[in-house]
Amino acid sequence: MSKIVKMIPCYVLFFYFCRMNCYEKIMKKDLGVVQAVYPMPVLMIAAYGENDKVNVMNAAWGMICSEDKIALFIDESHKTTQNILSRKAFTVSIADRKHMEAADFFGIATGNKMADKFERTGYTAVKSSHVDAPVIEEFPVVMECELAEVVRTESMYCIVGKIINTAAEEAVLSENGKVDPVKLEALIFDQFQHGYYVSGERAGKAWNAGMGLMKKETAD
Ligand SMILES: Cc1cc2nc3c(=O)[nH]c(=O)nc-3n(C[C@H](O)[C@H](O)[C@H](O)COP(=O)(O)O)c2cc1C
Repeated sequence: MSKIVKMIPCYVLFFYFCRMNCYEKIMKKDLGVVQAVYPMPVLMIAAYGENDKVNVMNAAWGMICSEDKIALFIDESHKTTQNILSRKAFTVSIADRKHMEAADFFGIATGNKMADKFERTGYTAVKSSHVDAPVIEEFPVVMECELAEVVRTESMYCIVGKIINTAAEEAVLSENGKVDPVKLEALIFDQFQHGYYVSGERAGKAWNAGMGLMKKETAD
């Protein structure tokens, strides 16, 4: 019998096993407590400290929470958190492929222990003309925010910012004047494997891809 099996070419066996898998019931494997939200953003939160010292941190736990508001979940021990609480303003930039090294560094080093955290990157900051916070020039898209609300959750703060203005480099805009995700090459954070990714493929149109099902009725 084993002699016969040996005589069957590998690709025939491979094809056979692939087909068998198709018919198996798809089972999910329990993974325990895993933060299974993907994609996550790579946000650069910038705020002034004492003597207008610029500090920036990397935050993935952040999301738009209403038309003009963004919510960030940040640890109370971070320098950025203390800076935001005292200056009541901050900016949120989108990190892109070109600036991955600095973006990651902003998530490793802390302004609490590294006095020249921002300066080490060689990046430049200018004061926002809308809020009391620095705009980091290298990142292509920035939201300038006023502190709107602070909610304390365990050891984290939920910091809600009101977006006063959003600015973007011409190079990442499409002809209609809106940000083009393909040109932006925004970094995406993957909580499963701790990777950074870049997306750009448009798979469909929102509020449209599901329209076919709106017209479909199920038979009783
Ligand atoms: C990819 C990545 C995502 C992160 N996301 C968050 C986050 O959402 N909230 C948070 O409190 N810390 C987050 N951190 C950790 C902070 O960026 C890090 O502790 C940083 O040193 C804080 O800087 P600061 O003390 O100068 O403000 C993240 C780090 C990385 C690398």
